[in-house]
Amino acid sequence: MKMFDVYTVNDITITRGEGSWVWDKEGTRYLDMYGGHAVISIGHTHPAYVDAVTEQLGELGFYSNSVVIERQDELADKIGRLSGKENYQLFLCNSGAEANENAMKLASFHTGRPKIVAFRGAFHGRTSLAVAATDNPSIVAPVNETDHIVFVPLNDAEALEKVFAEQGDQIAGVILEAIQGVGGIQVATPEFIRTIRSLCDRYGAVYIADEVQCGCGRTGKYYATDWAGVNADIYTMAKGLANGFPIGAIAIAPHIAPKKGMLGTTFGGNHLACVAAIAVADVIRRENLIGNAAEQGAYLIEELQKMPVISEVRGRGLMIGIELPFESADLRRKLLYEEKIFVGSAGKTVVRLLPALSLRREHADRFLESFRKLLTAYC
Ligand SMILES: Cc1ncc(COP(=O)(O)O)c(C=O)c1O
Repeated sequence: MKMFDVYTVNDITITRGEGSWVWDKEGTRYLDMYGGHAVISIGHTHPAYVDAVTEQLGELGFYSNSVVIERQDELADKIGRLSGKENYQLFLCNSGAEANENAMKLASFHTGRPKIVAFRGAFHGRTSLAVAATDNPSIVAPVNETDHIVFVPLNDAEALEKVFAEQGDQIAGVILEAIQGVGGIQVATPEFIRTIRSLCDRYGAVYIADEVQCGCGRTGKYYATDWAGVNADIYTMAKGLANGFPIGAIAIAPHIAPKKGMLGTTFGGNHLACVAAIAVADVIRRENLIGNAAEQGAYLIEELQKMPVISEVRGRGLMIGIELPFESADLRRKLLYEEKIFVGSAGKTVVRLLPALSLRREHADRFLESFRKLLTAYC
């Protein structure tokens, strides 16, 4: 049997990782400024993480949600403390799309309403409602099409107010990435986020913060939404939460009450996923990785802003978009094959940096030196 051929891949086989470095099967070392798409939060093969997952696997690999899983409460406690939202409730699932799917479903259950407001440029995943709320018709199959999603331009408060004025009694929730990742590192302004909060309050809708990519400390605060100084009603998480162990989660405000059977999943909250996420939370706290993300990110952004050619540098902390005045594919190819540096992309012209939150100054300098060198060819 062959793999179903849906991914565009680089012809490189990664076999080993450590911190912000990975090695291919020939032993060539690469600097990882991509973090496997924002997933590697505490660095590859962090010893505390390896020990925790290995130990758990030796004790018990899996049991279902039909028994008490104390690790879930421990994880809820740790995320509550790290995020400063200790009175929120945690539901665990397996991916970012599933987290968003559950968040939107919960908003609808809670309000009894059918509609969700999403934004132009948004990416929320590939399951049915998540993909319907994603602004990319090429990945929406006919079966996913629904008129329950209303798209509004990002940062357009007037358009959002109009939608609420016209359909407020139908709107269950608003879903927003505080920084759009796939959409090209487009930052929602703090004023816009505060407008969402107040409209949701006024119309009794649920504010869902999709923190799958921008959350878990990446931007220099636990949730990127925190930069606006308001709380969402539901935060969705996945990528950085367990450093590569598949997990999804939603943190739910106390006024949203659970009902037995309302949400569920077989694998969500399993012992291995919980210990992986607990180890990540512990390392983030112990090594001050949120502070480090803020510091290294500010340094990278400042240095990139001094470079020629670049049209714009966007983002916060270690979620950075470098907008180029030309298609980035060739430059990214040179970064990878000549400079041995992994980066991401968004659209045709944006280079995306999503490195581990444990990135060190020497890693940032190594990237900046290579990027500066390659840019001179375009001066
Ligand atoms: C903001 C955002 N939400 C949701 C998802 C979907 O996550 P997953 O691929 O784990 O389903 C992604 C994935 O890139 C994302 O960036």
